Amino acid sequence: MQDITIRRPDDWHLHLRDGDMLKGVIGDTSRHFARAIVMPNLVPPVVTTADAKAYRERILAALPQGHSFEPLMTLYLTETTDPDDVQRGFESGLIRAVKLYPAGATTNSQSGVRNFENAMPVLERMAEIGMTLCMHGEVTASDVDIFDREAVFIETVLDPLRARVPELRITMEHVTTSDAVEYVKASTKNLAASITTHHLIINRNAILVGGVRPHYYCLPVAKREKHRLALRAAAISGDGRFFLGTDSAPHVDAAKECGCGCAGIYTSINTISCLAHVFEQENALDRLEAFTSLNGPAWYGLPANEARVTLRKHAEPLVFPAKIETGAGPVTVFDPMFPLHWDVVGSIA
Ligand code: DOR
Ligand code: ZN
Repeated sequence: MQDITIRRPDDWHLHLRDGDMLKGVIGDTSRHFARAIVMPNLVPPVVTTADAKAYRERILAALPQGHSFEPLMTLYLTETTDPDDVQRGFESGLIRAVKLYPAGATTNSQSGVRNFENAMPVLERMAEIGMTLCMHGEVTASDVDIFDREAVFIETVLDPLRARVPELRITMEHVTTSDAVEYVKASTKNLAASITTHHLIINRNAILVGGVRPHYYCLPVAKREKHRLALRAAAISGDGRFFLGTDSAPHVDAAKECGCGCAGIYTSINTISCLAHVFEQENALDRLEAFTSLNGPAWYGLPANEARVTLRKHAEPLVFPAKIETGAGPVTVFDPMFPLHWDVVGSIA
């Protein structure tokens, strides 16, 4: 048996959905995480401060008894977002960031940005007030190969935007390529990146070898092995610009196991176990806390959590359910394809 104690983690990119799905998944996050940046891509999306306030109340109402958890709310950027509403939401402390989805990039992104020119007033205001833009960094042009969409985004959208509004703080979310890692490392200010658990574990073979495996399909799609290795190196480096954003994105099985399945991998329930395994494999358990609990709050200007959690390595593998049952239907749990021995003490009933 081996124990390590770290500050309680936060998740800097999470999909909680709404209604029965929210009720079914929230406990898997609040069991292990103190806070999470909650994505606004509901249907319809969370576009105003009033929408976010109501959504936050629904999240808090869905929390299991005895769990304490702080949802950090985001607004979904559209071409008609009102800069004054964004500023009021930010200054009131309710809104932590604005999320940019290029229109059509992923699940529920139809209302996203098509013409960046129309979003400039909001982006300029955010730069003035020190508010962070969370970016889904993929272009959507049909002539760009899906495996190249992140790299092309950096060159054609992100870099020009940073040159135009250098004071804008940007989180490149769920980076999946060595191009993104190198780009972040080369920056001198106002840029950071979140990395998911699953992108540290799978490459694109997981989706396609031996049959199509929809539960490994997400966006941005997992890339070649060399990219996974670059993400691992960044995550374990201790570099404050890289931190955990699980992008845990539940869809009911029926929406994934079909002719046109949704993107999204559900990892909230076993993320900490998976990460302890990855960091141990990399001989970097001493840097796990930086990735899960220190770098994210520092970037978002929040204190690290005072509470600590102990992770324990057991001789026998843990048993996680293959699926969780929610009122909306079953959701398949991410299978890392290796046995998990690390547990959060006191977390498994
Ligand atoms: O895989 C993903 N699922 N990527 C996203 O960007 C959105 C998310 C979702 O909402 O399901
Ligand atoms: Zn996401």
